[in-house]
Amino acid sequence: MTETPEQKQLLGEIADPCVMVIFGAAGDLTKRKLIPALYNLAKSNLLSREFAIVGVARDAFTTESFRAEISSHAKEYATGELEPDLWEWLERRLHYVQGEFGDAATFQVLKQTLAEADREHGTHGNYLYYLATPPPFFATIIKLLGESGLAKEESGQWRRVIIEKPFGRDLDSAKTLNHDIKQSLAENQIYRIDHYLGKETVQNILAFRFSNGIFEPIWNRNFIDHVQITVAESLGVEQRGGYYEGAGALRDMIPNHIFQLISLTCMEPPISFDADDVRDEMAKVLHAINPFDPEEVLTHAVRGQYDAGQLGEQKAIAYRSEEKVSSTSSTETFVALKLQLDNWRWADVPIYIRTGKRLPRRVTEIAIQFKQAPYQLFRKTNVEKLRTNRLVIHIQPDEGISLRFGAKIPGPIVNLGAVKMSFNYKDYFGSTPSTGYERLIYDCMNGDQTLFQRADMVEAGWTVVDPILDVWQALPPRAFPNYASGTWGPKEANELLARDGRQWREIGE
Ligand code: BG6
Repeated sequence: MTETPEQKQLLGEIADPCVMVIFGAAGDLTKRKLIPALYNLAKSNLLSREFAIVGVARDAFTTESFRAEISSHAKEYATGELEPDLWEWLERRLHYVQGEFGDAATFQVLKQTLAEADREHGTHGNYLYYLATPPPFFATIIKLLGESGLAKEESGQWRRVIIEKPFGRDLDSAKTLNHDIKQSLAENQIYRIDHYLGKETVQNILAFRFSNGIFEPIWNRNFIDHVQITVAESLGVEQRGGYYEGAGALRDMIPNHIFQLISLTCMEPPISFDADDVRDEMAKVLHAINPFDPEEVLTHAVRGQYDAGQLGEQKAIAYRSEEKVSSTSSTETFVALKLQLDNWRWADVPIYIRTGKRLPRRVTEIAIQFKQAPYQLFRKTNVEKLRTNRLVIHIQPDEGISLRFGAKIPGPIVNLGAVKMSFNYKDYFGSTPSTGYERLIYDCMNGDQTLFQRADMVEAGWTVVDPILDVWQALPPRAFPNYASGTWGPKEANELLARDGRQWREIGE
């Protein structure tokens, strides 16, 4: 009897035999994330021994020199000590095809290489294509996979494609891309990846909400005042100025990573962990986000761009002085939004989100701010103001969950202090070195699409973001740069909450 993907996972079973073909194999993602993730899977005994990797890129490598190149970075990017025998095993499975992504001849060579890999490594004709290329190649590669017969599933052999972000740059282009790739692939062959769903702490949101009886009854508008999501980075754009200039923080972070966090935090309990049951509920959340009208963009959306500044001991340059960035750039490196979900559970509960580069520290968290308790009882005491309960899901870097509540300060006078109950992942489970890609690659090898985006989810995300893009494009920012590196963004981000009588929580509090 064959197990379902979910059963395989429960059993911690070895993934299906396959060849993983990496388009864009000479790029950073391959050596930094994909190869270390495959190594970790092999080490945990989850990767089939009947396995091979074929790298495809236009760079002039041979299989030999590609192996040498990948090996030369292996230690640097590994998440732990490398076992020489296991590394050698993986290295022997690396192959390389040099060619242009838009040239049909590349796919003929690839076809031969895959047939050889099947013979040499016993990979059963199952192929996982990973598109780690710039987005303009996505549709082309998939078209040529289709035309060369390499996307066709037959005789029980599967063909799956993982597509990196960004998936489109607005609603129209996402729709076109979905339409184009579906000429060659069925939806169950398409795995639109978002590496936030590979993070343990993000997956834990589901476990936390739905495996504990005490939280779900209060997880709604009756008890929750508002939600704050912060995805802060201390790094600037580094070497990615070329890409970032055309993207900006809104496209780069919101319709993908941050919308995953909102979906998991706000979704209804799915009826099962089957891929479509979970994704149906996640998609409903995205559909419930009220898209802004142009007026609301002006009042509910804030953009910023970093100026020079100081992060700890280090001086940081302005965004406009970064490599491959225009000295008059209007690209935003910070976004804050006030979103509203139009459904029974969340009506009138604002979801505030902020994300940006060159903020004081790297931290991602979801803070659930509960409503205040009635004050009467403490009116005639020394308590000046009741603090509210707050549950914080710490996604990174200090993974855990904490709950703030009031406690009596010891002494003869009634006074209250805020105390915190904290669960820290490391204390309970130690730290499992991971790149965040292991689970996603493993799931794809087993045909489990739960943690991947469906076409409708991607389009729902862009539907929310499009009106903001339109207004921002029509009205270029006047005051960029508007926040110093090493600060929490422009003052308008504080005003966004202050207008509602609220404030951003001080991170670390
Ligand atoms: C990527 C963005 O998708 O996510 C980057 O393109 C960003 O700009 C990165 O830095 C953040 O990921 P993480 O895992 O470091 O939070």
